[in-house]
Amino acid sequence: MIEEVRNLVADVREQVAYLQELGVDSFDVALTDAPLIGSAPERPQAQVAPPQVIPTPIVKAPPPKIEIEAPPRKVSAGARLASLPSLKKRATASLKPETVNTAVNEMTEMTSAAASANEQAIFGDISGLPDSNETMEQIWADIGNCTRCPLHEGRTQIVQTVGNYQSDLMFIGEAPGADEDAKGEPFVGRAGQLLNKIIEAIGMKREEVCIGNINRCRPPGNRQPTLPEAHTCKPFLLREIAVIRPKVIVVMGNTALHNLLDTKVGITRMRGQFHDYYGVKVMPTFHPAYLLRDPSKKREVWDDLKKVRDYLESVRAT
Ligand code: URA
Repeated sequence: MIEEVRNLVADVREQVAYLQELGVDSFDVALTDAPLIGSAPERPQAQVAPPQVIPTPIVKAPPPKIEIEAPPRKVSAGARLASLPSLKKRATASLKPETVNTAVNEMTEMTSAAASANEQAIFGDISGLPDSNETMEQIWADIGNCTRCPLHEGRTQIVQTVGNYQSDLMFIGEAPGADEDAKGEPFVGRAGQLLNKIIEAIGMKREEVCIGNINRCRPPGNRQPTLPEAHTCKPFLLREIAVIRPKVIVVMGNTALHNLLDTKVGITRMRGQFHDYYGVKVMPTFHPAYLLRDPSKKREVWDDLKKVRDYLESVRAT
């Protein structure tokens, strides 16, 4: 119990530091509504957002100790299918924005527990990334001049995933900042320069890997994307992952971790070990922007990336 409280406090500290790092200086959160220890932990959001987590097609990720637990609810098959990256003609791809919003609302009604129960019921034991016969260009064409979430209002341009789309290594961050919004490329600001050094430290070049974000439009004031914003944009990233088929995905920071692995456990507890996304190894690590604020955490990131390097070397050798 004491240990759980300690972990919880560590998570909260980290979340607050992380949000500060993102420029969030106030939370619209009613503390009296805060859940008691033992109930599902809530994470302060920059904006009011629904507490549930959208279902992500994750398999085999070990259920962390502190997870959202909610009774299974009735889930429409359409909503579940729409969240899978495997489908050649995805519902989200061809839907009009208002239909997408309905689907997203419906999807946010679901919980991770309901999602995995439902996924199991519909698809049985899924292992391995689903096949995709899409191209990145087709996915971007679907994204189009996107107005599906409010972030489009403040963007200069949509920031697409870049790099080598045949790479065995992919990095995922949160959302573009000012520099990325201006240039139309992820991780080109200070955090991006540090990311470049991290990539070079494991013997690769930026152009050899893939780099993307959960959200493709810059949130105002660099705040954290809300859950509906992340859930609206994420399916496009999942479809890209099915096209790229990397061997390892490095999720940097809590937003990328929570959205790809469908967990609310903090990065401090999840980092440093491989997790699983459809047979792809996922290494959570600290976000480079966090390292700029706390360079002492570089040691941990280096440890995490050495594991990534060693794993990639082992699979390339076979
Ligand atoms: N931070 C991110 O998460 N993504 C970027 O592209 C830039 C900074």
